[in-house]
Amino acid sequence: MTDTEEQRPKDHPWEGIDLAIYENHMSDAAVGQLQLLHRITWEQLTTYPSRSIGILGVAGGNGLDLIDPATTDAVFGYDINGDYLQACADRHKPTLGPRLHLVRASIDRALDIAPVGLLIANLIVEYVGVEEFAAFAGVNIHAIGTLSCVTQLNEATGFVSPTQYAAAFDELGAISSDIDPPALVTAMEKAGYAHVLSLSYPLHNGKTLVRQDFRPTPLERQPKEIDAR
Ligand SMILES: C[S@@+](CC[C@H](N)C(=O)[O-])C[C@H]1O[C@@H](n2cnc3c(N)ncnc32)[C@H](O)[C@@H]1O
Repeated sequence: MTDTEEQRPKDHPWEGIDLAIYENHMSDAAVGQLQLLHRITWEQLTTYPSRSIGILGVAGGNGLDLIDPATTDAVFGYDINGDYLQACADRHKPTLGPRLHLVRASIDRALDIAPVGLLIANLIVEYVGVEEFAAFAGVNIHAIGTLSCVTQLNEATGFVSPTQYAAAFDELGAISSDIDPPALVTAMEKAGYAHVLSLSYPLHNGKTLVRQDFRPTPLERQPKEIDAR
């Protein structure tokens, strides 16, 4: 991959999961999350039109097809899995060209992101943890216009929905956790953000995706670095 930076790590459980297996699992009729995440990404992009967009845990680029290159200067995708980033580049470089910057990195408080009007974090907080995610958001507060997060509420169901691919995700048990939406709000407020929106998206398998949007509080905001249209 030509412009993927090697910032860090190896040996993370996500590096052992083939992208096709991940995408087949997530788009299985029993799960339906890839399709719903695609729709939610459309809503995030249209709620906060921005000339620069960041995606944490970009994987193969679900939703990048929704970004209009004519009205976008830069798209930054971050992921720990270099193979996912290669697939993302293969799929989306033809449309996004040099605007697309893919960065192999661990999402934590040591990561310094490029300034963006909108930062999307869909199904990533589960693997980073609320406290570390809020610490990441806190150290990058002057680089973020709006941070829109999606987490999953598992309720009566397991963390991984049962499909023929589910066993491939066993190793994730060691690093994943259920996210309590009010706990995410509390941690983000401590990191200097205001909670500006919550939306729920029930799935037919008993799970619910929860979108929570945050913006730096006025005292933390530095408008010259934020590029909302
Ligand atoms: C559940 S997938 C979400 C994919 C995508 N956001 C979507 O909506 O379809 C989680 C992604 O985050 C990446 N990931 C998980 N933990 C990470 C970490 N600590 N640092 C960077 N990337 C991570 C995985 O490699 C994977 O691509």
